[in-house]
Amino acid sequence: MRSFVRAGRGPGLTEENYNTMTTASKIFVAGATGLLGGQIVSNLLDRGASVRALVRPGTDGDKKAALTALQARGLELVEGDITDPVEKLAAAIGDATTVVSAIQGGPDLIIDGQVNLVRAAEQAGARRFIPSDFAIDITKLDDEDNVMIGWRRKAAAAYGDTSLDVISVLNGAFYEVMIGFMGLVDWEAGTVSHWGDPDQPLDMTSVPDTAAFTAAVALDPEAKGTQRFAGEVLSMRQFHQTLERATGRGLTLKNLGTADELRAEITRKAAATQNPFEYVGLQYQWCMVTGKAKFDNVDNAKYPQVKPGSLEDFVRQAAPKA
Ligand SMILES: NC(=O)c1ccc[n+]([C@@H]2O[C@H](COP(=O)([O-])OP(=O)(O)OC[C@H]3O[C@@H](n4cnc5c(N)ncnc54)[C@H](OP(=O)(O)O)[C@@H]3O)[C@@H](O)[C@H]2O)c1
Repeated sequence: MRSFVRAGRGPGLTEENYNTMTTASKIFVAGATGLLGGQIVSNLLDRGASVRALVRPGTDGDKKAALTALQARGLELVEGDITDPVEKLAAAIGDATTVVSAIQGGPDLIIDGQVNLVRAAEQAGARRFIPSDFAIDITKLDDEDNVMIGWRRKAAAAYGDTSLDVISVLNGAFYEVMIGFMGLVDWEAGTVSHWGDPDQPLDMTSVPDTAAFTAAVALDPEAKGTQRFAGEVLSMRQFHQTLERATGRGLTLKNLGTADELRAEITRKAAATQNPFEYVGLQYQWCMVTGKAKFDNVDNAKYPQVKPGSLEDFVRQAAPKA
């Protein structure tokens, strides 16, 4: 087995052993052409890490060009797909010690593809795997609460026998998703909608900060198990007030119903479609507003070098102004 530098320390990663780790290990990133994966790669390079990124042969030219530009900073690119035969994927992983997955897709990728990636990582002699979890607290949910989280839980069970150390990074909801994909904010109508208790605390983190925490975890020789991070913990009432402060606009906070009514709405939508992406946004909201997927604690303090930005600053940059 390849040697792996272990720096003795208490909780938290000092700059000294962080740097020791960066020179001693190579990180393999699958999903590097994606929104989160690309930023994980940049963060790792910023820290002086050796990084190899998997790029699919048919990937979009612009997305590939963004990675090609990073080759000047030492990034290695290797062509492949996480569904490739294990031997081929293991050769792509090569001498990497840590495999990070930031892929996105359906169960064929999140379950079967990631299991394949784990088997390839084992064969290559890697030591650690960071799966494409990056969510609310998936350890507290049941498989049927959220279809996308269910796939991640099933994947974890399927590679549960692995010899690799599996480190799951959880970040709550992306700020980008809270003001976008979730469909909560209607800038034109000037409304912020929510279900359930407006005072339930919710975990959220921006994409860049999630990438920075993931890079810190990937380079931390002592990281183990589930690592939880939150840029902000805000209720929907505080979220609404933050958006008003950041934009200088009056926005109406609109209650759409109770958490039980949200559950009924999800059941109705699920019965009417074969496409889970039509209701998964509501499932994320249910998991959050009920408090079921709330972090009990966060691990931000282990990585003081990552200083997550506030939602207010993020919205000031991203949202339409008054
Ligand atoms: N907490 C939240 O609010 C939140 C929100 C959004 C996403 N996420 C999570 O963040 C993670 C990354 O999501 P994202 O939005 O960054 O995804 P994304 O932008 O859609 O990128 C997906 C990546 O996966 C790659 N990929 C897909 N199929 C592949 C295959 N067969 N082999 C190798 N690579 C493959 C894609 O490559 P190509 O470029 O070749 O297609 C791309 O690089 C996921 O776990 C997602 O659930 C969390």
